[in-house]
Amino acid sequence: MSHVPVMAGEVLQLIGASTGRVLVDLTVGAGGHSAAYLEATTPEGRVHACDRDPEALALAEVNLARYSGRVTFHHGDSVSCLHQLARQGVRPDALLMDLGVSSMQLDEPERGFTFREDALLDMRMDPTRGPTAADLVNSISLEDLESALRELGGELRARRIAQAIVERRVRRPFRTTGDLRELVEQVLRRRGGRIHPATRTFQGIRMLVNKERELLTASLPLAMQLVKPGGFVACLSFHSGEDRIVKVAFKELVAAGRGELVTRKPLSASMNEQRSNRRSRSARLRVLKVLR
Ligand SMILES: C[S@@+](CC[C@H](N)C(=O)[O-])C[C@H]1O[C@@H](n2cnc3c(N)ncnc32)[C@H](O)[C@@H]1O
Repeated sequence: MSHVPVMAGEVLQLIGASTGRVLVDLTVGAGGHSAAYLEATTPEGRVHACDRDPEALALAEVNLARYSGRVTFHHGDSVSCLHQLARQGVRPDALLMDLGVSSMQLDEPERGFTFREDALLDMRMDPTRGPTAADLVNSISLEDLESALRELGGELRARRIAQAIVERRVRRPFRTTGDLRELVEQVLRRRGGRIHPATRTFQGIRMLVNKERELLTASLPLAMQLVKPGGFVACLSFHSGEDRIVKVAFKELVAAGRGELVTRKPLSASMNEQRSNRRSRSARLRVLKVLR
């Protein structure tokens, strides 16, 4: 399944897409938002398309091939891409971060993001670097595991699950998504709820593996420095903790006289979009205008 861009109309409207403008898409994924921007800025708008996932970049190159000459691709996480772009002297009119995993990453069992199929417990958005989910689950402290499950995954029984993981890994290290799913099922003994019992654990571990909160926190000030005065920084988040990071950072920038809120409250997807695209239901869009 390809990734349907969430709230693309709202994003384009709020970041002022018109011909000749330049967008940095820090999370290009399948290129849905970038394609919408390139259409809206025809014939001269340009996009710097970044992603930490080489497979996503390869797919974006195919999906954006008809705009060749107007798109440049950069591999790396948001912080390293922001440094690269600053070194190249890029001054965009707008910058977008559409956070979290893509449907392609979730739909490919061998990437290890989903508990729905058995595969190696990997979960790295960038499989070329860093420890896998299995490496972390088999090594980090009980306290770090518990806080990832509670704070990143929103799991209320984080302590019990973390304890069970630590006990089990001594006997048999975790290797596959099935190993972790089965353990959570045993601990929670819950079936048939609204969400699968392993959903929150998998989300917490995924955010830990990919340092998602840390990268977002470090990226926002760099994004502000990159975007031209009068331009826009837009963030789409799907997790309340991430939305809070964006909200607090924007508030501080407004207080320092460096930005102006375009969205006083976060925007949600329309009911129509929520009905046709499940992923859009938890989306929160915040946009800041850069003053200096
Ligand atoms: C939700 S998808 C983006 C979908 C895209 N907007 C589209 O319309 O197709 C998120 C993408 O961002 C990438 N990503 C997430 N966090 C990132 C980060 N901190 N730095 C770079 N890429 C990131 C993921 O690898 C994934 O491909």
